[in-house]
Amino acid sequence: MHDCETDVLVVGAGPAGGSAALLLATYGVRALLVNKYGWLANTPRAHITNQRTMEVLRDLGVEDEALAVGSPPELMGDTVFCTALAGAEIGRIRSWGTGERSATEYGAASPCTMIDLPQTYLEPILVTRAAARGAKVRMDTEFLDLQQDADGVTARLRDRVRGDEFTVRARYVIGADGARSRVAEQIGLPIDGQAGKAGKAGSMNIVFNADLSRFVAHRPSVLYWVLRPGAHLGGIGMGLVRMVRSWNEWLLTWGYDIDGPPPELTGEQARQIVHDLIGDPSVPVEITSTSLWTVNHNYAAQYSVGRVFCAGDAVHRHPPSNGLGSNTSIQDSYNLAWKLAMVLEGHADPALLDTYSAERAPVGKQIVDRANLSRDQFGPIFEALGVAGGANDEGIERGLAACWADDAEGGKRRRALHEAIQLKNYEFNAHGVELNQRYRSAAVLDDGSPEEVWEQDADLHHQPTTRPGAKLPHAWLVDAEGHRISTLDLVGGGEFSVVTGLSGQVWQQAAAGCGVPVRTVVIGAEGARDAYGDWHRLSEVDEDGCLLVRPDGYIAWRRATSPDTPEAAAEELRTALRAVLHR
Ligand code: FDA
Repeated sequence: MHDCETDVLVVGAGPAGGSAALLLATYGVRALLVNKYGWLANTPRAHITNQRTMEVLRDLGVEDEALAVGSPPELMGDTVFCTALAGAEIGRIRSWGTGERSATEYGAASPCTMIDLPQTYLEPILVTRAAARGAKVRMDTEFLDLQQDADGVTARLRDRVRGDEFTVRARYVIGADGARSRVAEQIGLPIDGQAGKAGKAGSMNIVFNADLSRFVAHRPSVLYWVLRPGAHLGGIGMGLVRMVRSWNEWLLTWGYDIDGPPPELTGEQARQIVHDLIGDPSVPVEITSTSLWTVNHNYAAQYSVGRVFCAGDAVHRHPPSNGLGSNTSIQDSYNLAWKLAMVLEGHADPALLDTYSAERAPVGKQIVDRANLSRDQFGPIFEALGVAGGANDEGIERGLAACWADDAEGGKRRRALHEAIQLKNYEFNAHGVELNQRYRSAAVLDDGSPEEVWEQDADLHHQPTTRPGAKLPHAWLVDAEGHRISTLDLVGGGEFSVVTGLSGQVWQQAAAGCGVPVRTVVIGAEGARDAYGDWHRLSEVDEDGCLLVRPDGYIAWRRATSPDTPEAAAEELRTALRAVLHR
């Protein structure tokens, strides 16, 4: 006998686990979320929340809550490189889609804006909403181990308040227990990338309160990179002062030597580092916490074994560059949750669950490689300044003076510096990395169209398409009251959708006979008028063609035009859906 039963046991209440529990509860699945600690993240950690993640929160109906507590793009984007907040400014780069040209691109790609949402604000939204929608949530509950058989998984947990152990019987388990995942270890997921467990570089986080308005309010940003002697120890070569709440709460990141013993930082040492990076020791500073973390380059090639699935840092571990950590974790869960729901409801064969790994593992590897490369791409800034390999105060001053010299050599260095800063677009405006995921798996049916050609740099620019495996493009439509509504607002909610045009009525009838709930979206009809003609431009299929859109907004199948008869349309749609659901 087991102490309790559930359909899905979710281990971990971070971005991956919190979103998994909320998604499952929203889809009506019985889920138990357990977290080792008494409450959620106690330091801000992940914060950049990209448009794909905001789209997930929008689908879940919690986007407004996130917007209410997050910092808007206007406060995020003037990334600064300097020698101290009160010191010389080396340069700036407009970031996170806030530059004039990139703002247009970001605006066209999604109904959502990027925001800065520290983990301390995100996690309570996910977990309290999950509980409100029926997920069972248990804090102070530690996962110990598991055993799986043909029918389910038995997990042993420890109640950290009472101190005793108990077992849970679940049909499936999601291991969202972070970078030191015990679940991933238990199921033996092979983790590729850098060898050993120690990490590539050592970093310390110092969270502090200080009113820094006079140094930053005129150049509002989330990130202020500071070139100080000793910064090379962290691997990047710069310290970071990161806004948590404008302009009073901050998180400073500074490096330490990974080959030495982990530093034990006193409050006074932390204050000295903070004052050093501010460049003004008279600023009152209150240190609220310090912690250590390591920079990693690790990813799993396989995300599941049997009935156990891992998500988030459990399967991809990388530096914070590009702000991809919690975004990717939430999108893992968005990919997995609807598949589990479909299998548990009997609409899909369990083989559908194999597509989770097939679709998400390549994304995990891509973002781990990207985040690590972005760290290395600070190098050209130091080369332009002549301080590569670390420099003392005089070296930094000399480098800056050479860069501002009013002669030909100075001009050459300035050009190199501007180019080096522009290279950081791959970290701070990597719109393609954020949005261009393409899934290839048995839950996506190839329509025989030629390989996709990227019109622009695929890391920097978003490319919308309705090719199977891509996310449904966003286009503004107009609802019955004349308000703007996104194509993405018409799909999701845990259901498949058939998207067609006014002359595609055959698909409406076809959707009704699929044996699985399939929503019909008729673009051009009352409630979804293509008033701007944007959908006409983006759809890549005729008006009487059809897109079969999965609950996560990704296109599973498309048909450029309707077949000759309603019966043929019904048969084609049924066959496609059966194939996607592996029935
Ligand atoms: P996450 O680690 O957030 O959550 C894991 C959850 O599992 C926690 O709730 C934990 O309590 C629980 N858990 C662990 N073991 C358990 C067990 N045995 N039983 C039950 N529960 C268990 N990213 C970024 O973009 N910017 C940044 O500045 C930073 N900084 C940073 C600092 C530090 C110290 C760390 C560890 C990480 C970062 N990150 C970051 C990375 C970012 O925070 C990370 O990508 C996401 O939090 C990943 O979300 P997950 O939900 O996968 O794991």
